[in-house]
Amino acid sequence: MCGIVGYVGHRDCSDVLVSALTRLEYRGYDSAGIAVFEDDKIKVAKTQGRLADLSAKMREEGKPHGHVGIGHTRWATHGKPSDINSHPHTGGNVTVVHNGIIENYIELKEMLKRKNVEFCSDTDTEVVAQLLNLYYKGDPLETISKVEDMVTGSFALGIIFADHPDTVYALRRESPLIIGVGKDETFIASDVPAILQYTKKYYLINHNEIAKLSFDGVEFYDRYMNPITKELQEADWDMDAAEKGGFPHFMIKEINEQPESIKRTILPRIYNGMPDLSECGITAEALRNFKNIHIVACGTAMHAGMVGKYVIEKLAKVPVNVDIASEFKYREPLIGEGDLVIIISQSGETADSKSAMLLAKKLGAKTLAIVNAKGSSIAREADMLIYTHAGPEIAVASTKAYMVQLSVMYLFAFELALAKGKITESECAKYITDLQEVPEKVAETLSHVVDECQHAGSTLITADSLLYIGRGLDYALSMEGSLKLKEISYIHSESYAAGELKHGTISLITEGMPVIAVATQNALLEKMISNVKEVKSRGAYVILVCDEECVVGADIADDIIKIPKISEILMPMLAVVPLQLIAYYTALAKGNDVDKPRNLAKSVTVE
Ligand code: G6P
Repeated sequence: MCGIVGYVGHRDCSDVLVSALTRLEYRGYDSAGIAVFEDDKIKVAKTQGRLADLSAKMREEGKPHGHVGIGHTRWATHGKPSDINSHPHTGGNVTVVHNGIIENYIELKEMLKRKNVEFCSDTDTEVVAQLLNLYYKGDPLETISKVEDMVTGSFALGIIFADHPDTVYALRRESPLIIGVGKDETFIASDVPAILQYTKKYYLINHNEIAKLSFDGVEFYDRYMNPITKELQEADWDMDAAEKGGFPHFMIKEINEQPESIKRTILPRIYNGMPDLSECGITAEALRNFKNIHIVACGTAMHAGMVGKYVIEKLAKVPVNVDIASEFKYREPLIGEGDLVIIISQSGETADSKSAMLLAKKLGAKTLAIVNAKGSSIAREADMLIYTHAGPEIAVASTKAYMVQLSVMYLFAFELALAKGKITESECAKYITDLQEVPEKVAETLSHVVDECQHAGSTLITADSLLYIGRGLDYALSMEGSLKLKEISYIHSESYAAGELKHGTISLITEGMPVIAVATQNALLEKMISNVKEVKSRGAYVILVCDEECVVGADIADDIIKIPKISEILMPMLAVVPLQLIAYYTALAKGNDVDKPRNLAKSVTVE
């Protein structure tokens, strides 16, 4: 989704804005632009395309020179990607960049048109610029506060006023925004990586709050223009974490970071060999009282929830529903007091997940957020919170964030099962010992399967469509494998419960169609092998992922990828590795932009 940045300081503003926007590229975008005060006049440069296109345009037409400005990467919602629809947008005295959606923009646009205001773009953002300009009588703060009352929707805005060439204003409702503070310089940004090259210090800005950035520093105001004070935050990771560090892509770097991410996430939650989530506000007594659990999330995070369902139900014997957040909200879910709703989100800003959480709270359920981004909206508004410690995830296709979400699902399931008396302390201790082995086994998997996954990637590039099949936990996992492939290789794929194939989908199998079969669950192995035979005998090209101790004939599949063995319940944490790598190498072989796949945004802040 759109990225916004802003700067007031001693450096060359255009350079800072472009460089900060580069760190937000992961959010997904189709156009870019900046507005900078040059000799006290606002100069705008914007274009459809990538930041490289913007830089090229500025080389040709001249780069704005100055020290105060705002910048934007746009992910089109209202109006197709084009130079005109790119941000910044100007209405008379006021120039803005915007992330989010102005829901009542049509009504506001009509009102402005009646006042003879002319529009040049199709965006909802231009309406805000024009509205601010209409009411502007010389006091920016007063104008922003007035307009804030008039607009509905979610937004983060960076605003400059032509007659205040030393100031940037920012306003936030729902959409993410932070205010960075360096030595004699201040920043606005949609996310921390944008400012890390300049400073690790930042403020979180709450809903409906306004920030005023000038050469004197930063001031904050509530919606009624009362000054407010804030606590300075410090990012606990630095630029290296947000750089590729010698890897060709963020995705492969992040895949390789998984062992460390798991350790960082689980070790602080293990005490005396037992799971301990008490620092997250989770007590054994509270756990005992939950009757039903609902897991609500989107995309990869929802897939982590699918694995969580199998593990929680198996160990703790508590019924778990997994819901797609965008469906949950509109199907009048049957939840209430005594229920626990778990929201899983890497970014903590996904609009669908956030609104599902707010609904759950309204209905009386307790909410537990499992979130990676510190200080994000979901993290701040949930009743209980477990941070995953993946560090910054930049590639749009999520890998290490999924892995740490799984880690937390296991820790939670173990603690819940113990609290409910469904497993003994010694069983729980054994699960924890096994979980602690996972980082090393993931590293081992990574070092063993690369060649096979590269080979699989070169086989899959010609496929139009393929299937992932599995049973039980392997089925839950294969959903994520299939999503990874779709996201970055653009090859159609579906994941199917292997037993369901013969009820329809097997009709799709034709000569050479690839089928990726995941078979890591011993009790289900025989049945899985039958399913593999069913597709193979109809011509499928089968890639089998199984553990190193699995005994199958060499002719059962065309390729067999063997992974290390670990306690069966934890196998998804190892089996996901080849699935991630297959997606990566397929996308690479197709020459796709692995880290920034078309049409996708890392953080989806609109419904
Ligand atoms: C987007 C991303 C996915 C991600 C999903 C949920 O669709 O492209 O990779 O899984 O949002 O994001 P969240 O930040 O809530 O985990």
